[in-house]
Amino acid sequence: TILVLDFGSQYTHLITRRLREINVYSEMLPCTQKIAELSWKPKGIILSGGPYSVYAPDAPHVDPAVFDLDVPILGICYGLQEIAWTHGQNVSAGEKREYGRAQLQLEPHTSMSPHVDELFKGLGQDFEVWMSHGDKLSKLPEQFVTIAKTANAPFAGIAHTEKQYYGIQFHPEVTHTPKGTILIKNFAVNICKAGANWTMEAFVDKEIARIRALVGEKGQVIGAVSGGVDSTVAAKLMKEAIGDRFHAVLVDNGVLRGGEAKQVHQTLTEGLGIQLHVVDASQRFLGLLDGVSDPEKKRKIIGNTFIDCFQEKANELTAAAHNTPQAGEIEWFLQGTLYPDVIESISFKGPSATIKTHHNVGGLPEKMHLKLIEPLRELFKDEVRAMGTNLGIPHDLVWRHPFPGPGLAIRIIGAVTPEKVRIVQEADAIFISEIRAAGLYGQIAQAFAAMMEGKAVGVVGDQRLHGYIIALRAVSTSDFMTADSFVFDGEWLKRVVNRIGNEVQGVARVVYEVSSKPPATIEFE
Ligand code: XMP
Repeated sequence: TILVLDFGSQYTHLITRRLREINVYSEMLPCTQKIAELSWKPKGIILSGGPYSVYAPDAPHVDPAVFDLDVPILGICYGLQEIAWTHGQNVSAGEKREYGRAQLQLEPHTSMSPHVDELFKGLGQDFEVWMSHGDKLSKLPEQFVTIAKTANAPFAGIAHTEKQYYGIQFHPEVTHTPKGTILIKNFAVNICKAGANWTMEAFVDKEIARIRALVGEKGQVIGAVSGGVDSTVAAKLMKEAIGDRFHAVLVDNGVLRGGEAKQVHQTLTEGLGIQLHVVDASQRFLGLLDGVSDPEKKRKIIGNTFIDCFQEKANELTAAAHNTPQAGEIEWFLQGTLYPDVIESISFKGPSATIKTHHNVGGLPEKMHLKLIEPLRELFKDEVRAMGTNLGIPHDLVWRHPFPGPGLAIRIIGAVTPEKVRIVQEADAIFISEIRAAGLYGQIAQAFAAMMEGKAVGVVGDQRLHGYIIALRAVSTSDFMTADSFVFDGEWLKRVVNRIGNEVQGVARVVYEVSSKPPATIEFE
């Protein structure tokens, strides 16, 4: 196991992710972790980056005992400065703060210690790295040599001449350092000799054990599910960990896809054995949405009403829990937060404008005095999918396109009515089933039918029809931050458009929307 000590960089989790990618176990702990309190001995230690300056009076520092463990240490960015600082060396605030790409050059040296070369083995003479730091080293600490530099940082890589201590100013864990994973592998596998035996199966077992320890023998957990990948995987993990002491709640808000509540109910209860409570609140939501056309207002109504519905159900279940002597109170709230959500909510604190307020259930636990449990918090989407597969969740669900919390309400431009919802549901079902039949579902990141505002004229038989306008949208994207419209075969598209026009009552026209993001967004509102 590699111990990753976290100094608070937004990239720290990427270090653990890279380690998982090369099948190495790691444990991430706060930078102030007392080594004496560890029940295991790490094979090596990585000190992460962080937002501080080592000379700030409140700067965090590692337990000096890490240097007595006699294991290899790699300091990244702040971690490098921390190593230098603990070895009595000056760090100065860089005149030029350095952010972005830089070309790293390995430094030839005449050291007698072969270990100093191990870190950059197989990486070539110079390669691209990603820098993000303010402070930089102004002088080498005693007994250290320079192993790499960039135009701006003369000590971009340093190594101790006797001990296996390394410091690098750049971030090997981000994809902008294309060879970073090799460097991390050099450190973890070659230098630390950590075994490459991490598996998803073992990770799941460990998470289950962690949940059991956290919740205790009697504790009960409640969580919302949507039918999407994240909440389903989190729910299944809970089910495996604590069985029927986990209660899943699905709120039908009336703007789900056609037949969805029923389908989710079937998959979760019959397929996965999860105890699911469906709250049919569609009338309540549609009533509140009546006549509302502002997208942010729609989001607020749906978000708040969701919280109300969930809370009512939770109170009911909590009252029922009083009567089950074999179990304790409902004290925990499960949330399927992923690591990218964590970063997003951090970066959203700044002035970087919130483009859309994404619907989530953030305020709920505090309001209900529940403790938050987030078992997917360290994982990325692809890892959640791998975990889902490992937990026996059906392939189609694991690879399902994302569906927004406010549902069809933000795919219907303008005011939402039950008729419009019905039309979008039917059009969407045809579009998606044709995409599946053509074998294209997996190549598309997200596809759906939406409705434009207003009506258009069409003709059915000899009758003039004043009907709705459906817009179809399908996009390719890897991170949903930018997206490209998907290119279908023209004849195929015409056939699907005709099917929707003929089969969905009330539709006068169907258009295929080809905007990319930016300037458009993926959803219509
Ligand atoms: P946009 O439309 O912002 O969508 O390009 C990017 C991704 O986010 C989803 N999305 C939402 N998800 N609540 C959600 O839970 C929302 O309010 C919301 N708005 C957009 C969208 O489906 C896409 O996957």
